[in-house]
Amino acid sequence: MTRIGIVSEGDGENRVAATPQTVGKLIALGYEVVVEADAGSRAAFPDAAYRDAGAAIVDEDAAWGADIVLGVDTPREDEIARLRSGAVLISQLAPALNRDLVDRLAAQGVTALAMDAIPRISRAQSMDVLSSMANISGYRAVVEAANEFGRFFTGQVTAAGKVPPAKVLVAGAGVAGLAAIGTASSLGAIVRATDPRPEVADQVRSIGGEYLPVTVSSETVSSDGYARATSEEYDRAAAELYSAQTAEVDIVITTALIPGRAAPRLITAADVAGMRPGSVIVDMAAGHGGNVEGSVADERVVTENGVVILGYTDLAGRLPAQSSQLYGTNVLNLLRLLTPGKDGVLVLDLDDVVQRSVTVAAGGDVLWPPPPVAVSAAPSAPPAPAASVAEPPPPRRGRTLLLLALAALALFAIVTFAPAPLPQHMTVLALSIVVGYYVIGKVHHALHTPLMSVTNAISGIIVVGALTQLTVPEPVVQVLAAAAVLLASINVFGGFAVTRRMLAMFSKGTNR
Ligand code: NAI
Repeated sequence: MTRIGIVSEGDGENRVAATPQTVGKLIALGYEVVVEADAGSRAAFPDAAYRDAGAAIVDEDAAWGADIVLGVDTPREDEIARLRSGAVLISQLAPALNRDLVDRLAAQGVTALAMDAIPRISRAQSMDVLSSMANISGYRAVVEAANEFGRFFTGQVTAAGKVPPAKVLVAGAGVAGLAAIGTASSLGAIVRATDPRPEVADQVRSIGGEYLPVTVSSETVSSDGYARATSEEYDRAAAELYSAQTAEVDIVITTALIPGRAAPRLITAADVAGMRPGSVIVDMAAGHGGNVEGSVADERVVTENGVVILGYTDLAGRLPAQSSQLYGTNVLNLLRLLTPGKDGVLVLDLDDVVQRSVTVAAGGDVLWPPPPVAVSAAPSAPPAPAASVAEPPPPRRGRTLLLLALAALALFAIVTFAPAPLPQHMTVLALSIVVGYYVIGKVHHALHTPLMSVTNAISGIIVVGALTQLTVPEPVVQVLAAAAVLLASINVFGGFAVTRRMLAMFSKGTNR
């Protein structure tokens, strides 16, 4: 039986790669699981909980000697030496920064899967540790800022005076930035955010922030969910925005990142010097060189003018139970993909884009970097104008007018000559068609699902009405009633079928 080993992380890392909950699910996938003693204790998961979930508690050598080793951080040299040749290591490996480590793992004959190399595509979202950790970190950045800030976030009117709400600026509205915006605004602060990707403006607004655009002649559009390097023109305009905003806000949270590059410098020492004493900056990119001049990785710095700059790089690890649970679930989802038979046999398919992207070493070869994965996260570009002047479309206006005239004539004939109550019914029908056409045509796409519920309800009424008419001893009425039942039923059952299909898109393991 293939054995999975959960190892204990080194000093300064509180997370663990599997929780008792995910261990149970790994065992259900057909694996045997062993956990290094005390591996989860810093995340509040005692050995007994792992034992209850079906794992055996073992020593360091046995955990590192398993067939598949699950970790959180990059392994140390002595840990790599404990890995068996042919073993699979699943951990965060930062392969772009640690080429030596990848070489070393390949030389040892280890198949190394980097959790931090999961591509940012919808199919891989359930395995994306960078996103789940950034989400937690964005939340924690606000909590750290609130801890340092000597005031309320929310505004209050009290008997002792009015308290204004705190103003928060978030630079970079990716995963961490959006989490920070949502958290700060739910605490009652006024939140502003900026990002070179204009497509995030709606997301910022939807969670209570104000989007501050940096207006330049060319836009930075992402093709894979990550930003491209900004232009000099953009950086100049952004610098003005940051100088103006830092003079006004109380808290700044910076999360700007462009993959594969040092963090862009956004806030200068002069900007920091212009902030009010007691203001707080959290530089989430401090580990990548920092977005803020004067921030130091893993340090709390207090400037001469009394501004606190936090450069903590372990924000996710400061919520260890939650981050271990999410990390463990991301790993479990990867293992589900790698265990198609649910029989405890790991099958690596390098033709699959997700599996290829995470595999940095296999069979003694270095497989990093993987071929690029491009999935557009930007709204699709408007169609390019036709190069040549196209033929004018055939004249359809005349035909439409003719049809309208015929319909009006038919309505007039019915209203004038048909016996009551048909003219009355026809008038109501004609008016409903016109009103329905304009109302439904103006309903926003996002409201089509509630619209479908309304039309389903109306179709239900039509079905009931038509059923009562089926017994009328008039062949014309019976035919019309039968047609009404049929058409309205198509709408009702079609609505159910579409809803079922939409729900299936959100269920795991469903082929679309
Ligand atoms: P992300 O890629 O989702 O977001 C980064 C955002 O920065 C993107 O929206 C991008 O458009 C924006 N950006 C790029 N250049 C910019 C510029 N010049 N000005 C303003 N915005 C710019 O990345 P994610 O996952 O949100 O991570 C953000 C940062 O937080 C990264 O540096 C990451 O390493 C760091 N991080 C830090 C942690 C900690 O404990 N301190 C934990 C997790 C992430």
